[in-house]
Parts: sequence; C-alpha cells; structure tokens
Amino acid sequence: MEEIKIRTVFSSELATVHKIEKISFKNPYPLPFIESLYFWNPKAFLVAVKKEEVVGYIIASTQTDVGLIISIAVIPSEKRKGIGKSLITAIIHFLKDIGMNSVRLEVRRSNINAQKFYEALGFEFTHTVHLYYRNEDAFVYFKFLN
Ligand SMILES: CC(C)(COP(=O)(O)OP(=O)(O)OC[C@H]1O[C@@H](n2cnc3c(N)ncnc32)[C@H](O)[C@@H]1OP(=O)(O)O)[C@@H](O)C(=O)NCCC(=O)NCCS
Repeated sequence: MEEIKIRTVFSSELATVHKIEKISFKNPYPLPFIESLYFWNPKAFLVAVKKEEVVGYIIASTQTDVGLIISIAVIPSEKRKGIGKSLITAIIHFLKDIGMNSVRLEVRRSNINAQKFYEALGFEFTHTVHLYYRNEDAFVYFKFLN
C-alpha cells in the first residue's frame, strides 16, 4: 500500500471532505454542518492523505462520555485498502487518549457494506432505531475501548 497519512483536517480541506461525503451518501451532510463539526472539535476530525490528496475522513463527537462516529468515508478508488480501518484505529486512539471508554455509531439498515466493515473491526450490533433516518431504520453499533 502506498503511504497513507492520518492526521487532523485543515480548514482548507473541508470542501474536499464535503465532496467525498456527497459521493458517499444519498443524504449527505451539508457543508456548513461539516464546517461546524470542525470548529466545535477539530481534534476529532481526521483525514487520510495519499500523495497530498485527501482520500478519506472520519468525524467523531465527544459531547457525551460515549464517543460517537458521525461520519466516515473513503473515496471509491481507495476502498478495501485498509484506509477505513486506519481511520477508525486513529479515532479510537484519540478517544482513548481523552478518557473515553466506548464508542457508538448508527448505520442505515441497507448499508450492508458498512455493517460488515464495523463488524470486521470489532463493533457489536446493539439495537435498531425504527425510522431513525427519514424513511429507514438505523442499526446501532457499539465498541468498548480497552
Ligand atoms: C465503510 C468504508 C468507510 C470502509 O472503508 P475501506 O477503506 O474500504 O475499509 P477497509 O479497507 O479498511 O476494510 C477493513 C475491513 O472491513 C471489511 N469491509 C470493508 N468494506 C467491506 C465491504 N464492502 N464488504 C465486506 N466487508 C468489507 C473487510 O473485512 C475489510 O478487510 P479486508 O479488505 O481485508 O477484507 C467505505 O466502504 C466507505 O466509504 N463507504 C461509503 C460511506 C459509508 O457507508 N460510511 C459508513 C456510514 S455508517
């Protein structure tokens, strides 16, 4: 694998992150929301960089004592190369560093690939939230950080 660097995002990269968000999700977060996540908690917003190009990102929230993964995506041409795993590993490292002992996330019922990804990384399905999204259930996944 060519060298991938995981680091905190620069504000100049937020538009690129939003582009990746738009190609990755049918209901992408708007750019102003992504910008506000950066301004609230820049340390919980990481990018994967390959040859100076942002190829993936992960955004977490640390507002409660359980870390929450708000969004993660990798550009299509770079999927299945371990970048998503590196992003999760790095955010878990950060969450542990600030004293969190668990992390949670929601995933669409139809997003089987993401469910397989989280399960491969040791997340456990805990419950379903009926119609969490406008017209679709969410599966909630959880992982203890130890
Ligand atoms: C989910 C996503 C971030 C995974 O990123 P990635 O860089 O492709 O994942 P990795 O290469 O690190 O995968 C790690 C392991 O997860 C599992 N996995 C990842 N994608 C998978 C898929 N499509 N099908 C089955 N298993 C998968 C595999 O076990 C994989 O290991 P392997 O390739 O050695 O078999 C990426 O597919 C993506 O951007 N999807 C669109 C956005 C999205 O759905 N985000 C999650 C919203 S909740």
